[in-house]
Amino acid sequence: MSYPVTELSTWRALERHAQGLKQCSLRELFADYPERGHWFAIDGAGICLDYSKNIVNEETMRLLIQLADERFFAQRRAAMFGGEVINHSEGRAALHIALRAPRDAVIMTEGRNVVPDVHAVLDRMRAFAEQIRDGSWTGASGKTIRHIVNVGIGGSYLGPEMAYQALRSYRKRGLDVRFIANIDGAEFVEAIADIHPAETLFIVSSKTFTTLETMTNAYQARQWIVAALGEKAVAQHFVAVPTNPDAVRAFGIAPEQTFGFWDWVGGRYSMDSAIGLSTMIAVGPEQFEQMLAGFRAMDEHFTHAPMEQNLPVILGLLSIWNNNFLGAETLAILPYAHDLRRLPAYLQQLQMESNGKHVGEHGEPLTQQTCPIIWGEPGTDGQHSFYQMLHQGTRLIPCDLIGFCQPLSDLAEHHDLLMANLFAQAEALAFGKSAAELRAEGVAEEQIPFRACAGNHPSNVILAEALTPATLGALIALYEHSVFIQGIIWGIDSFDQWGVELSKVLAGKIVEDIRTDTVDGLNHDSSTNALLSRYLRHKTTRPRG
Ligand code: F6P
Repeated sequence: MSYPVTELSTWRALERHAQGLKQCSLRELFADYPERGHWFAIDGAGICLDYSKNIVNEETMRLLIQLADERFFAQRRAAMFGGEVINHSEGRAALHIALRAPRDAVIMTEGRNVVPDVHAVLDRMRAFAEQIRDGSWTGASGKTIRHIVNVGIGGSYLGPEMAYQALRSYRKRGLDVRFIANIDGAEFVEAIADIHPAETLFIVSSKTFTTLETMTNAYQARQWIVAALGEKAVAQHFVAVPTNPDAVRAFGIAPEQTFGFWDWVGGRYSMDSAIGLSTMIAVGPEQFEQMLAGFRAMDEHFTHAPMEQNLPVILGLLSIWNNNFLGAETLAILPYAHDLRRLPAYLQQLQMESNGKHVGEHGEPLTQQTCPIIWGEPGTDGQHSFYQMLHQGTRLIPCDLIGFCQPLSDLAEHHDLLMANLFAQAEALAFGKSAAELRAEGVAEEQIPFRACAGNHPSNVILAEALTPATLGALIALYEHSVFIQGIIWGIDSFDQWGVELSKVLAGKIVEDIRTDTVDGLNHDSSTNALLSRYLRHKTTRPRG
């Protein structure tokens, strides 16, 4: 049984410290320490984190780092990198860092160096990706593959889709990647609406190769291919990315077309494994390697940088501070990059599936909040929808604003305007607009309450040179490790996800009820029974319209 973090004297010192800091404004903090913009900014793996606009001072950071020390952060980091079983409830290591380890690294888990296994799969992925890209891998009728459809959900979808959008300017033209995740047939129908089976390759991405959504969509895709090209075409038009190769054989995909990964890779930590095959095909093996190098650079920074200069450590501890000590309930992810528009969705799974836990790693009830709600939209879009609440709402909503110094398009003027908005938002969130300033500008007295912005909304600015594959890798590893340190502070298992199982089982039972097509014998609560009855009365097997 691990000691509850809330009982540590450092936790209590942070609570007392927070009471004092809650009385301060960011205006005051900057006035007291005009250089904080320099002192509370750190660099690593090509990324700058300016956290000066958080409601913190040096004492806050000292106490947070002390808290991490008292939770044995260094030992736990070593345990993760050393391949120890740190996912206790599933009895596994959490070794996503091995996915980007250099070829000559040695990372042992359960008596086996996993690095050669990782590189063997990467080598096969490279060869296959090149065959698709140069046209030497054709469909069954000899046509060039022009469409890749990744069938997968959760970690087998969110990372690849996010990366596909993020690396838009590195993609090979004329080869598009689509994604089918949802069990809603609408997504399947839309994905294949304007493509031809002869030019399409499906990547069935599923760690377990049993997930209802993925297997339903994969068999639908199989039917679509077979109807057009015959049974034998399955071999040319499907590849699989599983940890369970036996299930793949039953589907008709040969071992040569199977790119495996391992149970020590969590789904939400898998975008740099074979789950990233669609990314590699889209951007090419070299750019994929650049992405891995970015991940690796952040891993090294996380391992070696001192705590106070360590980006994932500081990002994670600030989240703890805002959540557990200042009472924030959410964290807004605001990428100022259209190409990163799927980052909030990706980080939702990464953080909420990892740290949305109510018991400690030994099953003990927790006495503090865990993961904040992660949400967000790209800037500047969000500015014209929910930012009103960020500036003048009643809740404390910390924000991560993510931007880049260089555009990836020729529209440099657009980029300046985009980044001006990022900087302006961080400034406005922190310092607001006071009644006195409005008065000095001649604003009518009765307008002042509506126009004043209190400021004091914490934000991080995460700034990098450009959204390259290496930057993307470093950015994702930054968040991965910040999730890890938060889990350590809370004393939870960040690598299991039992909470998603219950409703899967219930859905299985309800499907049986629906298939009987009668309301007789419905045996749920009155609400579920009534909803099911209504559904059965109104459902139709034919499309509407
Ligand atoms: O239901 C949650 C989950 O298990 C995620 O953790 C995972 O990323 C997703 O489902 C997909 O699982 P699989 O890759 O096994 O199909």
